[in-house]
Amino acid sequence: MGRGHRWGRRISFNRQALHMEFNEVLNRRYSCRAFASRGLEQEIVDRILEAGRIAPTAVNKQPVHIWALSDPDTLAAVKGVTRSNYGAPLILVVGCRPADAWVRRYDGKNGAEVDAAIVATYLMLAAENEGLSTLWVGSFDPSLLRNLLPAAEGYELVAMINVGYPSPDSMPSAMHGERKPLGELVTRVD
Ligand SMILES: Cc1cc2nc3c(=O)[nH]c(=O)nc-3n(C[C@H](O)[C@H](O)[C@H](O)COP(=O)(O)O)c2cc1C
Repeated sequence: MGRGHRWGRRISFNRQALHMEFNEVLNRRYSCRAFASRGLEQEIVDRILEAGRIAPTAVNKQPVHIWALSDPDTLAAVKGVTRSNYGAPLILVVGCRPADAWVRRYDGKNGAEVDAAIVATYLMLAAENEGLSTLWVGSFDPSLLRNLLPAAEGYELVAMINVGYPSPDSMPSAMHGERKPLGELVTRVD
């Protein structure tokens, strides 16, 4: 019996088709800075949140929490927390509790933020996979955001993932096309 059985159920799928679809999601994503006011279907939101739930975390400690903000008053209050407001009907605030996270024994590095970034990335790509657009907002005042989320005591607030349908005039910024060439990004140690 192979390891696949030991670690969980074997999943069969058409590898080629899955690969193509995933690349399409990666390629179509850009930072959306103009959202339509249209609300989001609950089952779509649930699938996005489920992606966050199944994201990996170091030693499976799961020190991450997501606050899903869609109440109009709360979204209005968020305007005071960050200048990156573009009318998204859903903001997923991703936080992590360092006290719950894996700590690397060699240097004491706490894994909470890395875990939160992975969860946030899963949320973002799952939303894109639903045909929605996203914006990762990191430039916010954490203490003002904390005021809106009293339950976030003890959490570091890492990301505000804005999610919604893009407005018809939404388009990628110039920065979207600016990436280092592969040769600059990667050092191959063969
Ligand atoms: C960690 C992180 C924080 C970011 N914070 C902001 C932000 O506060 N406001 C904003 O407009 N964009 C923000 N962005 C979006 C980046 O500016 C954007 O991803 C980058 O310029 C590349 O463009 P693209 O996403 O369209 O490919 C953030 C992205 C990341 C990954």
